[in-house]
Amino acid sequence: MSAPKPNPLPLSTPFPPAVRRAPVGTREKPLPLIIDCDPGHDDAMAITIAVARPEINLLGVTTVAGNATLPRTFENARRVLALLGVPDMPIAAGADRPLVRPLFTAAYVHGESGLEGAEMPAPAGRVHEAGAVDLIATLVAASPEPVVLAPLGPLTNIAQFITAHPELLSKIAHISWMGGAIGEGNVTAAAEFNAYVDPEAIQIVFSSGIPCTMVGLDVTHLARMGDAEVARLEQLGNRAGKIFAELLRYFAIFHRDRYNWNFCAIHDAVAVAHLVDPDLVAVVHAAVDAELGDLQRGRTVVDWLEPRLVERGRLANADVAVGIDAPRFANLLIDAVATFD
Ligand code: RIB
Ligand code: CA
Repeated sequence: MSAPKPNPLPLSTPFPPAVRRAPVGTREKPLPLIIDCDPGHDDAMAITIAVARPEINLLGVTTVAGNATLPRTFENARRVLALLGVPDMPIAAGADRPLVRPLFTAAYVHGESGLEGAEMPAPAGRVHEAGAVDLIATLVAASPEPVVLAPLGPLTNIAQFITAHPELLSKIAHISWMGGAIGEGNVTAAAEFNAYVDPEAIQIVFSSGIPCTMVGLDVTHLARMGDAEVARLEQLGNRAGKIFAELLRYFAIFHRDRYNWNFCAIHDAVAVAHLVDPDLVAVVHAAVDAELGDLQRGRTVVDWLEPRLVERGRLANADVAVGIDAPRFANLLIDAVATFD
């Protein structure tokens, strides 16, 4: 696989180009994928890409408390499955709080329901009553191929799966996580939401030995849907386009009021799009650690400088996203929505 073309980097730092370690699905060999999420407007768009694209074989969806409480993220995920016409998709609810800390939610971003802005269909999905960790274990054990995990919320469920099922870790091909940041924060100046909510879970996941990609705010803040893109969704003329246009118009309110931006950032969709398009996101190899203190709780410390890693005796344990072809991303997202009724 050719090294991705280093896209215009959003940061001033000239990162060394690095060949991605995340696998890419193809039509001939779709990637078996499990999405763990906290819908969440951008989670909903990420699930849409996974269902729409032939390069992905979505095995199941698990939900975690994050953007909203667990009952709400679980219900929202099931409504998204109904909208996408996959009512038999296995789905399970997971952790209703982080590993250690009290739950912190984001009604100020996504609304009280967690998916405000549109009339969604009634919930669907084949509910796995034994819970998220058991569903992930069941799907991974049954898969003939190693499975990719795409966590799009706090890493609580993934950390609990890793702790409970060490015998299955060799069947996890990669973890593509939307979370963290090199130099940005959206809850505090230091921390991105998914990392802030459960920083302890990050340490478990990133020290597990499973190859990881961290798709942080440095790149997802460039994954934009503005008025023109939302209008393109509406002009698709299908129900999915209409509903996602309504959802993004609501999601844009937070971005306008908080940042004075005239677009919304579709964070989670990048972590899934990275698995279908090898030329979308540029990465750097780095060591990632989570800050557990109070002042910088949830900050992801990303050390990408090879000589410094050697001096510290650290190995680069992750790919970290450092660039994205933003127009390509918007087209990929809109084309995915276009495939639905
Ligand atoms: O910081 C953005 C992340 O937090 C996204 O995953 C969003 O859905 C929220 O979970
Ligand atoms: Ca999310």
